[in-house]
Amino acid sequence: MSQLHLELSSVGIDFPTPKGPFSALHDVNLKIMQGEFVSLIGHSGCGKSTVLNIVAGLYQATLGGVILNGREVNEPGPERAVVFQNHSLLPWLTAYQNVELGVKPVFKGKKTKAEMREWIEHNLELVHMTHALHKRPDELSGGMKQRVGIARALAMQPEVLLMDEPFGALDALTRAHLQDSLMEIQNTLGNTVIMITHDVDEAVLLSDRIVMMTNGPAATVGEILDVKLARPRNRLALADDTEYNGYRGAVLRFLYEKQKKVEPITVKRTEKPAEQFAVENTSITESKQVA
Ligand SMILES: Nc1ncnc2c1ncn2[C@@H]1O[C@H](COP(=O)(O)OP(=O)(O)OP(=O)(O)O)[C@@H](O)[C@H]1O
Ligand SMILES: [Mg+2]
Repeated sequence: MSQLHLELSSVGIDFPTPKGPFSALHDVNLKIMQGEFVSLIGHSGCGKSTVLNIVAGLYQATLGGVILNGREVNEPGPERAVVFQNHSLLPWLTAYQNVELGVKPVFKGKKTKAEMREWIEHNLELVHMTHALHKRPDELSGGMKQRVGIARALAMQPEVLLMDEPFGALDALTRAHLQDSLMEIQNTLGNTVIMITHDVDEAVLLSDRIVMMTNGPAATVGEILDVKLARPRNRLALADDTEYNGYRGAVLRFLYEKQKKVEPITVKRTEKPAEQFAVENTSITESKQVA
């Protein structure tokens, strides 16, 4: 795990909006080693998905860029598979066919028809979807669709696996099962993973490093935590582990002390247009006087 694999160098992005450019990210720098598991954590709206989309080649950085194996990347490629925050399956294809779509270009000429079928079924089995191989997305629950998306990405055996809150929509048992499978798969394949999560325990359990992002606008890398827990990791053994709880505390302090979130909320008034308020903890501060 000593070779530099992926680098974000001075990445910044401005989105055009009706009110002018909105600076979502500013000067994001990150070096990721071959086979490293990196989590991105930060408050909602800080820019995590934007970072992932830039690495995936789906968004263009306004400033700086992404270097993969020493080469700048500006467009998507099969060596970077993405599991999106909202599952992205083609509605007219079955679970099996959705996985097949991702796998075919990668293994064309390398696997026979039978091997291909076995591989697709194996990956759907990993995410407990064997019973619904031939169902279409509108016949599947949200969590099941997400699992097909995960199977599709894993089946592509990508050099870099990009995951945007992959387990967010799943029940606790399936989530734990998939987290364990992911750790195992990554240990075997040695691929580089960037995973976005809102779950502090998930971040500590899975990651080699946790990248904590500051709040936007112009969000950037706030702190990076090295998680030096030995692998393989066992969630039950770690629950009472002092070192594990130390890492957990460090992430929580970053999120809830250093980057305390001030959420703007909108309160509707009957005879007036909606007014903007700012809420911080329990105190509500009116940002606009109501006559
Ligand atoms: N295409 C776009 N055009 C304009 N603004 C955008 C666009 N995409 C994202 N943004 C803005 O950039 C900021 C970061 O968005 P992003 O989706 O990356 O956040 P996030 O950290 O992934 O949030 P969440 O945890 O809720 O998924 C937000 O303020 C969002 O409104
Ligand atoms: Mg997001």
